[in-house]
Amino acid sequence: MWTPPKKFWGDSINTPLSTSTASPRPALGLASGKLILAGEHSVVYDRPAIALPFTRLNARARISSIDGPSRVSSGYYEGTLDDAPDILSGMVDCIRATVKAVGHPGEHLMIQVDSTIPTGRGLGSSAAVAASAVRGIAAYYGAVLSHEEEMDLVRIAEVHAHGTPSGIDAEAVVSTGPFRFVKDRPVTPLQVGRAMHLVVADSGLRGNTRAAVEGVRCRFEKERAATETHLDQLAAVVDDVQRALREGDAELLGLSMNVAQRELSAICVSDSALDSLIVEALQAGALGAKITGSGLGGCIVALAPDAESVAPLASALRSAGAQETWPVVVHERNVEEAQ
Ligand code: MEV
Repeated sequence: MWTPPKKFWGDSINTPLSTSTASPRPALGLASGKLILAGEHSVVYDRPAIALPFTRLNARARISSIDGPSRVSSGYYEGTLDDAPDILSGMVDCIRATVKAVGHPGEHLMIQVDSTIPTGRGLGSSAAVAASAVRGIAAYYGAVLSHEEEMDLVRIAEVHAHGTPSGIDAEAVVSTGPFRFVKDRPVTPLQVGRAMHLVVADSGLRGNTRAAVEGVRCRFEKERAATETHLDQLAAVVDDVQRALREGDAELLGLSMNVAQRELSAICVSDSALDSLIVEALQAGALGAKITGSGLGGCIVALAPDAESVAPLASALRSAGAQETWPVVVHERNVEEAQ
């Protein structure tokens, strides 16, 4: 079990008084949304993927002290941790594991979670909410969790939400820029030779990551050789995307996104609403477009040729039925966008 470093004990502001309602000051935990640029689904099968933080959208958890049993307040539920509905069981387990990891009983806590990340859209809502709570609780108790400890705790909520998460969402929501990810390995931050201008468009339809991942699993078991070929193609795209980012080659990035979409369609994780947004994006001048995240609902991401083309592309996508669009600039560090 993780033990708090000595330096945190005796701090006059944050001294934990775990068995009393007197307690440290309120603390905030933050995490952003996420975008997968390449490698969704294939990453579950040990292939590489590329993701980045989507800092325009975020989750924040405010942790403070209350009298009585610990409570959680979120868009879904307001009440005690003990009475939280099943839909929040992953989050509750994650919170309980976090207070245990920082060496506290976790009594008398108010955990208030607010998120601007739409749920079920492949934008990392569940991982971000969990990461914000983990970070908020650690900050509240003046504890420092290692990156691995943070990831293990977020994973508890992700397993409830997704079944067999690769871990890419948890990494992305706390990352500061684009990175290459392979399951169970440290991430590699990526170089970006020139800023790339993306538009994310929400189909407005909720996806279900668990169902999409299970669908691919069924296909993998029934048509192993063909599915392996698609997964290998998706892995090859990841190498091309990495090179395109490094060399600032927007044409190659767009082309790679289109190849990825063809492969993702072949494993049946796109749908007609996403396909029509992708067609619209390409007709409106995007260099490439694909689903982002688990698909079967959720969002697409399209690459604009330059900064000037972002607004007309977003407008074309909204006219074609996108419920919401967001511009995203891919830099080596994406944290600035949060401001
Ligand atoms: C979900 O954001 C990404 C998937 O690849 C699942 C995972 O990696 O856990 C579909």
